[in-house]
Amino acid sequence: MIEADFVLRHAGQLATMVAADGDPLGRIVDGALASRGGRVVWLGKDAELARAVRLDGDELDAAGACVIAGLVDAHTHPVFAGSRADEFAERQAGVTYAGQQSGEHGIMRTVRATRAAERERLVELAVERADRFLSNGTTTIEAKTGYGLDLPGESKSLEVLTALAGRRPLRVVPTFLGAHVVPFGTDRLDYLRVLTEEMLPAFKGRATFCDAWCDEPAFSASETRTVLRRARELGYRIRLHAAQLAPGDGPDIAAEFQAASADHLEYATAGQLTALAAAGTVAVLCPAANFTTHAPRPPIEAMRASGIGVAIASDLNPGTSNSESLPYAMTLACVAWGMTPVEVLVGATSAAARSLGLDGVAGCLCVGSFADLAVLDVERPEAIPYYGGVNRVIRTIVGGVDWQPS
Ligand code: NIG
Ligand code: FE
Repeated sequence: MIEADFVLRHAGQLATMVAADGDPLGRIVDGALASRGGRVVWLGKDAELARAVRLDGDELDAAGACVIAGLVDAHTHPVFAGSRADEFAERQAGVTYAGQQSGEHGIMRTVRATRAAERERLVELAVERADRFLSNGTTTIEAKTGYGLDLPGESKSLEVLTALAGRRPLRVVPTFLGAHVVPFGTDRLDYLRVLTEEMLPAFKGRATFCDAWCDEPAFSASETRTVLRRARELGYRIRLHAAQLAPGDGPDIAAEFQAASADHLEYATAGQLTALAAAGTVAVLCPAANFTTHAPRPPIEAMRASGIGVAIASDLNPGTSNSESLPYAMTLACVAWGMTPVEVLVGATSAAARSLGLDGVAGCLCVGSFADLAVLDVERPEAIPYYGGVNRVIRTIVGGVDWQPS
């Protein structure tokens, strides 16, 4: 008998997200799952549970609800203070997102508010955001800094992420995004020196990934390479905001550095996507940011043709996407980009986990994986994007523990 300390029973459909028998979602009808110490120890048909598992702990009856591996959000910016709702309204009146990034505007407004905020206030805000992630079924996030943009500000942002991980069960993978933009009033060369000689060495070991924004208002191709070269030398893994606002070298650079992810990619070419696929890079698409900036549809067909893994992310941030909801992002990717429900389900689970180096552990359910689950009031997993703009998640389980909003 297998010993378990948590059991979930009667999942109408249990989507393991491990393809099996021609089903890309690897679903088990009337499924059950057992875990011990936060990891899955058994899964199968509910009717077979009693013969296989001895439970000393909690049992949750899903009562026929749909259960899927906890969602994985591969691109978020959860450490910030202040709101930019007025900029959202300005864009509906025709102002462009790129046009909002000059001087003290746009990202720099958030930088000012974030630098001015006490660390504890930023932790409170991040905890509120974590609760919204969890209540929308997300159990793992990649979390970027990028609104400090100096040594103390970026260090404070990383401390916030560490504090957050201690306050909520949400799994947090930290990314250093000091190369978000060059802070207004700072000399570009000076800032690059601070990034490569001070910040990157100081944060080694505190952030798993290093990210940069390679696009016109942010960093040029050669500046991006300078930052990423130093990051790689120091042992960071690489992600890259690339070709979000215009065609450019960002996707080539991501492929060159074998980045774990290349993000946004609205303007990526077919050749760049082929190079990214060959490098094993995952394309992380951000539908909510795409819509609020009135950006073109990403080259979905070329992505399919290239065979690149595609993740769907919330891109939670105050400028382009103030939403923690992956189901909302999945709905947008389906209705406006023509992605299929299966593509966005894979994109919000196993493909996202792969971009974080968590394949086989998060974003899927198999023996040894995290016992992270989203229980939804939907008839089947493919119906998750069909319910647009309403939260159908009824329970979120992290590491075999039923999370309840406090
Ligand atoms: O992912 N592209 C840059 N970074 C964010 C937006 C940041 C902001 O506007 O505050 C993004 O869209
Ligand atoms: Fe971003």
